[in-house]
Amino acid sequence: MKFLHLSDTHVRVDYQGNALTSKMFNQESNPVLRLRQLLEDAKKEDFDFALVTGDLAHEGELADYELFKQTWQELLPEVPYYFCRGNHDRREVFFEAMAVQGNENDEYIACDVVNGLRIIRLDSAQDAHHEGKISVAQMEQLAEWLQEPAEKGTILLQHHPLAWEEEGIATEVPSGFEEVIANSDILGIFVGHIHQGTTIQYGGKMQHMAEAISFGVDEYPDVSIFTNRTGYNSCSLTKNGLFVYHHYLSPQQTVIGSLKKPFEGNF
Ligand SMILES: [Fe+2]
Repeated sequence: MKFLHLSDTHVRVDYQGNALTSKMFNQESNPVLRLRQLLEDAKKEDFDFALVTGDLAHEGELADYELFKQTWQELLPEVPYYFCRGNHDRREVFFEAMAVQGNENDEYIACDVVNGLRIIRLDSAQDAHHEGKISVAQMEQLAEWLQEPAEKGTILLQHHPLAWEEEGIATEVPSGFEEVIANSDILGIFVGHIHQGTTIQYGGKMQHMAEAISFGVDEYPDVSIFTNRTGYNSCSLTKNGLFVYHHYLSPQQTVIGSLKKPFEGNF
């Protein structure tokens, strides 16, 4: 089973109305172009589905989600995508645009099984805070979903990382949350938010953060630097485990050679 993991597409119909994004994005670095580039490349592979770990839209307006959905429908309609809500995905517009329902706290959480693999989405986005939080209601629902193992295991999606190096960035979770993760059939935790491709363990499970599709972020003690580094992960679930491959979209990579398989000799 093969799937894509992309994150932080930050789609916007027009980036020019905002002082920061009008400087960051020109015709070449427009995040919608990177999304188009990825979806066009993905056509060449046989992905069963995709994961989009939040910040689908930059300002969370209806037209931005329409552009996201239209772009996907135009370029990769045969690949379904599972998504979670990021801090840029404003609650009400997100529910309306993506045609999903909230739980009792107006959080978007969901669980589906695809060819024996369970795909769980949590909602870590808060209205008035940049970093993430998981509610008790979400933890209880997660524990219920995870009670019985799935045939091929489970993957978990949420926007904010559960583990992070600097203090105060990791998602705030209720007591007992890490144990729920640890005592489960979770094969991988897929996140975004920081715009930096990284792996770290949480509750004994591997957390995979994708590079953003929109722009890269490098953190220094007194400044966040935004770059044109963009990327995504491609994932392969085999009898030997879950492989996560990291790819960069920009700067552009150039093919400089090739070798026919099977290889002959020791090159
Ligand atoms: Fe983001």
